[in-house]
Amino acid sequence: MRVTVLGSAAGGGFPQWNCNCRNCAGVRTGTVRAKPRTQSSIFVRPDGSADGVLFNASPDVLEQIRSSAVLQPARQLRDTAIAAVLLMDGQIDHATGLFMLRERGSPLPLWCTAPVEEDLTQGNPVLRVLSHYCGVACQRIPLDGTSFEVAGVPGLRLRALPLSSKAAPYSPHRDQPVPGDNIGITITDRSSGRSLFYAPGLGAVDPATFDAMASADAVMVDGTFWTDDEMPRLGVGSKRAREIGHLPQSGPGGMIEWLARLPAHTRRMLIHINNTNPILDEDSPERAALARERIAVCEDAMEFQL
Ligand code: MLT
Ligand code: MN
Ligand code: ZN
Repeated sequence: MRVTVLGSAAGGGFPQWNCNCRNCAGVRTGTVRAKPRTQSSIFVRPDGSADGVLFNASPDVLEQIRSSAVLQPARQLRDTAIAAVLLMDGQIDHATGLFMLRERGSPLPLWCTAPVEEDLTQGNPVLRVLSHYCGVACQRIPLDGTSFEVAGVPGLRLRALPLSSKAAPYSPHRDQPVPGDNIGITITDRSSGRSLFYAPGLGAVDPATFDAMASADAVMVDGTFWTDDEMPRLGVGSKRAREIGHLPQSGPGGMIEWLARLPAHTRRMLIHINNTNPILDEDSPERAALARERIAVCEDAMEFQL
């Protein structure tokens, strides 16, 4: 399969429009060696296929499509390589790009869980609004471990895993998480048998999650924060990482420790990186610590074969 990282930043992107933290100010002025990033989304297609699945529809999706030629195969007057959109959660950074895909002649194929469909119909009624444009053809992501495939992309086998994280702030059950608010996905290429575990929002690694990570050839997981108190410490907000459903990388029980337990051959990548995270600075000691652990930091337009 071919994986294209369309966006690698967390909600707000990098630099964030109103932020003058060290990273955001530094990338604007060129005093910090870092790459700007759009909000998190990946596109995956099987080998030999132009069509694939868009995982998350970021509000930056139009810019992402413009800068990735593979998203527009131009086989007919109106065309797209996006056979379906699959949502990992219902958060603004992953779902509001659906508005930008409204100029279609037929309903947009959309895969999501029941709580995400409910949140996008009630709390943030994106799907109700879209029904006045192209509409969506909504299909349910099974949460019981059953594999499924997206119409038009028979080369990929998908399997979802409910994760411990958080529903969106607008969700009526923000503080009472239910299975399906956030998922991880194992994407397997049927012909090669190779697989990617993708989980841009991951609050805790439970045994089933570790199992899915250890069974994959590559993992692309939550890289939002370096420390639990990153935002309060910088004075940019009061929320702690774990409180909003993101496992920090450093410290006891952090993502680095979990990744170190994976088989030696597993490719390790972080995505959904918040603008405050010191790993964005390519000259930082935190970035060097990741390099020593052979953990890559995703950047926009990065593409690889698996
Ligand atoms: C998150 O991943 O926690 C959210 O995307 C945050 C946000 O919407 O700003
Ligand atoms: Mn997010
Ligand atoms: Zn910032």
